[in-house]
Amino acid sequence: MNFKETLQGKTREIEEIIKAYLPREEGLQRTVLEAMNYSVLAGGKRLRPMLMQETYGMFGGEGELIHPFMAAIELIHTYSLVHDDLPAMDNDEFRRGKKTTWAVYGEDMGILAGDALLNYAFETAAQAFSLPGAENYAGRALQILTKKAGIYGMIGGQVVDVQAAGKPLEQERLEFIYALKTGALIESSMMIGAVLAGAEEPLVKQVEQAARDVGLAFQIQDDILDVTSSLEVLGKPIHSDDKNEKTTYVTIKGLEQAKADVEQISRRAMETLKSLPCGNPFLLELIEMLITRES
Ligand code: IPE
Ligand code: IPE
Ligand code: MG
Ligand code: MG
Ligand code: MG
Repeated sequence: MNFKETLQGKTREIEEIIKAYLPREEGLQRTVLEAMNYSVLAGGKRLRPMLMQETYGMFGGEGELIHPFMAAIELIHTYSLVHDDLPAMDNDEFRRGKKTTWAVYGEDMGILAGDALLNYAFETAAQAFSLPGAENYAGRALQILTKKAGIYGMIGGQVVDVQAAGKPLEQERLEFIYALKTGALIESSMMIGAVLAGAEEPLVKQVEQAARDVGLAFQIQDDILDVTSSLEVLGKPIHSDDKNEKTTYVTIKGLEQAKADVEQISRRAMETLKSLPCGNPFLLELIEMLITRES
């Protein structure tokens, strides 16, 4: 099997794991449940659960303890997108090739579906506590999940991001935004994989370092695609950053330098991973693939 086929197979498996945790669309609150499932099932690369699972495997993790956390990180990521697209934020109407959640269900349900996904993510992660191995590792994993999603992680980054709209921005602040709004959930994914497999703290720190670079490169590539891609390929509108007067890595460094930096930062992440006492060739190929991703 080549890399692409392996990737597709793994993505399908992850899709099934996520689906198994989704709420049933019933009860008087059914509308919000439909909106939650709509946004999760719209597709997406499932990159964060994949990074989590691959890091888990790299450290010798086996079994289902990782599953609730894989679903939880994708739920948190999806909520961040649902809120990111709201009129008060980036005001975008397409995501994952479909109308955004607020555009289909209204702004009120967009807000509530995002809130609901975030809370349901923690309900889902908490299910890990009844699985074998949870007593040693699930508490630490939950601590990482909660912190990296919050004010010291993704939300913190989004705050500084929206406040910077329409204003000039120096590279240092831009990299703070990227480390938090995008890096934090990727760090969370890979660190939780390591922690649940029983990795020692210094190695978890090394994984965090690699993940920070993966996240930075990933967000720079997202900025690049915002100017070079198309709605059809990307599944979301291009020129969203320009519309919102966002200073991006591309506006600061130019397109060619941004591309070169994605490659260099990704290679640095791969080197950090290669210096660990264990390895996972698929994980390295995945990071390599992200350098040239088109969506
Ligand atoms: C989009 O993330 C938001 C960013 C952090 C750039 P993805 O590109 O992983 O989105 P999906 O999950 O594949 O839709
Ligand atoms: C990343 O920034 C968003 C999140 C952390 C949710 P963007 O606003 O650039 O993400 P896209 O381009 O809308 O996916
Ligand atoms: Mg945004
Ligand atoms: Mg956006
Ligand atoms: Mg973007």
